Amino acid sequence: MPLSIIILAAGQGKRMHSDLPKVLQPLGGMTLLEHVVQTAKTLKPEAIHVVYGHGGGQVPAVLKHLSVSWVLQAEQLGTGHAVLQALPGIPDEHLTLVLYGDVPLVHTQTLRKLVDSAARGELAVLTARLKDASGYGRVLRDAEYQVQRIVEHKDATPAERRIDEINTGLMACRTAVLRRWLAKLRNHNAQKEYYLPDIIAMAAAEGVLVDGIEAADASEVAGVNDRQQLAVAESSLRWRIANDLMQQGVTLRDPKRIDVRGRLECGRDVCIDVNCLFEGSVRLGNRAQVGPNTVIRDCEIGDDTRVFANCVLDGVHIGARVRIGPFARIRPESQLADETHVGNFVEVKNSHLGHGSKANHLSYLGDAEIGRDVNIGAGTITCNYDGVNKHRCVIGDGAFIGSNTSLVAPVMVGPGATIGAGSVITKDAPADTLSLARAEQKTIAGWKRPKKTS
Ligand code: UD1
Ligand code: CA
Repeated sequence: MPLSIIILAAGQGKRMHSDLPKVLQPLGGMTLLEHVVQTAKTLKPEAIHVVYGHGGGQVPAVLKHLSVSWVLQAEQLGTGHAVLQALPGIPDEHLTLVLYGDVPLVHTQTLRKLVDSAARGELAVLTARLKDASGYGRVLRDAEYQVQRIVEHKDATPAERRIDEINTGLMACRTAVLRRWLAKLRNHNAQKEYYLPDIIAMAAAEGVLVDGIEAADASEVAGVNDRQQLAVAESSLRWRIANDLMQQGVTLRDPKRIDVRGRLECGRDVCIDVNCLFEGSVRLGNRAQVGPNTVIRDCEIGDDTRVFANCVLDGVHIGARVRIGPFARIRPESQLADETHVGNFVEVKNSHLGHGSKANHLSYLGDAEIGRDVNIGAGTITCNYDGVNKHRCVIGDGAFIGSNTSLVAPVMVGPGATIGAGSVITKDAPADTLSLARAEQKTIAGWKRPKKTS
């Protein structure tokens, strides 16, 4: 049966106390709504309709890259009213699956169960058992365990509030009946809203069997309504990703202390120490090791490379058998070829280090083209900025840059050239020569230190 999906995302999310519409709150490096859309797409539906409203065009503007159809709910009159806004775009012969923009961690398999059940019958609703069901709609079943209706927390009696089976809000329904039931919704309730879950009582009254499917894992159906629930969702997601990584063979020194806000792909026998943060798209090669407290964003890292503690790597292509850190910062557009070393307190920006080159201590390498087997002495600085423009330094293969050298760009150091320590290099240094640019040492024999007066 063809499938159309409606995602409800028009609410304000009052309990967040935020200027951002709730579905734009970030979770694991993506907005809540992007998580839902991503999962929805795995079901390969004919169409995804996202109902937006609060915050005006902000949601479609921020998420315009999502290929979904946007449906405006100008006034937020309730979840039933929201679904009604999208229904004109869905043909009767489709099955409609309703997802909530604030229920971001639902699994594809769970949704598939819901869709399959509704395709066999008429209506399936996803429920869950929660230790603390407070705030949620409760599921009322009859003596035969058939779902009868859903009562919202605010409308529930004390006895109903003791029920631990909750409505997740997610449901699948044949579109023709959904259309008929929604037209009959009334807002005679505590919130004066048109409640989508009220169609369940209508179905039951018509003798339609409502399939109440219980989610296997309560964390996947948790709603995000406030900052506490957002933090809980973040930690569920963190745990889920950590487990996936371990299942693929990655060693995590502490699976509770890794954050992946994006996509992390790992080769075999990768080891990640505690408190590491991965953002964007990161790929770690076979046997790569990442030390503690490291942040890696949009990087590709080769086999057997070791990143020691406290490094920040951003937008870098890193080869195999490279050693980085501790305390190194490598910035975008940089490339470190195989077997390079970038050591402590070295910053690299928009620079290429050729095979086997080393910058082991206290340097700034910006806008530099560095050949193979170059040794960059401690304290070397590329002076790439003249206050207005940036210029490049080019250093040939096998060059040796003595400690505490300033290379004033644009400047070229030829292959095999040596620069004496403490030099300020403003002119090209030819290949296989020694260049020194510093005051010559004077020695004054018999010189006396000044004596303290008074
Ligand atoms: C809803 C359910 C409740 C369920 C809970 C699960 C109703 C009436 N209640 O309650 O039974 O236990 O979810 O998380 O459905 N929205 C719109 N337009 C509106 C109102 C809401 O698009 O006019 C969207 C919101 O942006 C949100 C979703 O619908 O993504 C749910 O709305 P919310 O107000 O959070 O409902 P709950 O009170 O959590
Ligand atoms: Ca909610």
